[in-house]
Amino acid sequence: MKIKILRQAMPDSQPYWQEFRYERKENQTVAGMLEELNYKDDLTDISGHPARRIQWECSCLQGMCGACAMVINNRPALACETFLRDSGDGTVTLEPLRKFPTVCDLVVDRGIIQENLKKVSAYIGEYREADPKEYEHMYAAGKCLKCGLCLEVCPNYDGGRTFFGAAFANDCYLIASRSGSMEASVREAYGEHFAKGCSKALSCVDVCPMKIPTLASIAKMNRGQGGKK
Ligand code: FES
Repeated sequence: MKIKILRQAMPDSQPYWQEFRYERKENQTVAGMLEELNYKDDLTDISGHPARRIQWECSCLQGMCGACAMVINNRPALACETFLRDSGDGTVTLEPLRKFPTVCDLVVDRGIIQENLKKVSAYIGEYREADPKEYEHMYAAGKCLKCGLCLEVCPNYDGGRTFFGAAFANDCYLIASRSGSMEASVREAYGEHFAKGCSKALSCVDVCPMKIPTLASIAKMNRGQGGKK
């Protein structure tokens, strides 16, 4: 197979494409392939030129942490959950998520997701027992990995300057459901930084690796549901 990777040595250096040859193995994932390439002491590109190791992030390697999010064949996805066998013409293209600053190669800085929560003081304050009718959806919304795939595909996400995206909407719902003291301020932040900017493209729902029903979180927030027991 041909593996084509958009590389960047430093945050402010020029990106460039580099190609590698890889012999595909049965049931190998993109993450497994990257690990294998990096094990080589003498990694070379497709032309035989020495190449530095490919920088990428992972932790769980089982779709549970979100660290390995990247753009695979033009679609945002988790590298540990994407199989090479699904790449039609035998070429795999890897790029870093484009909506976040690149740190190096396939590693991006997703700190803005947490920074925006801090900016609007979105956290659990005085704890309140949630309405049991909400438990099932709270469990689903709580699965968010903060991987950033939903922000990558969102046509409205502006780098987190004013519109904070689907991950934020799910967190707002969870906080409004559980925190008596924070409910009013979180609903206000949701209105300002999510409801005002969302055009309901819902590509966030399509791409979410945890299959979070974000539309239900949005509907519940818009109806003022979730907080009252
Ligand atoms: S390494 Fe954790 S989701 Fe891929």
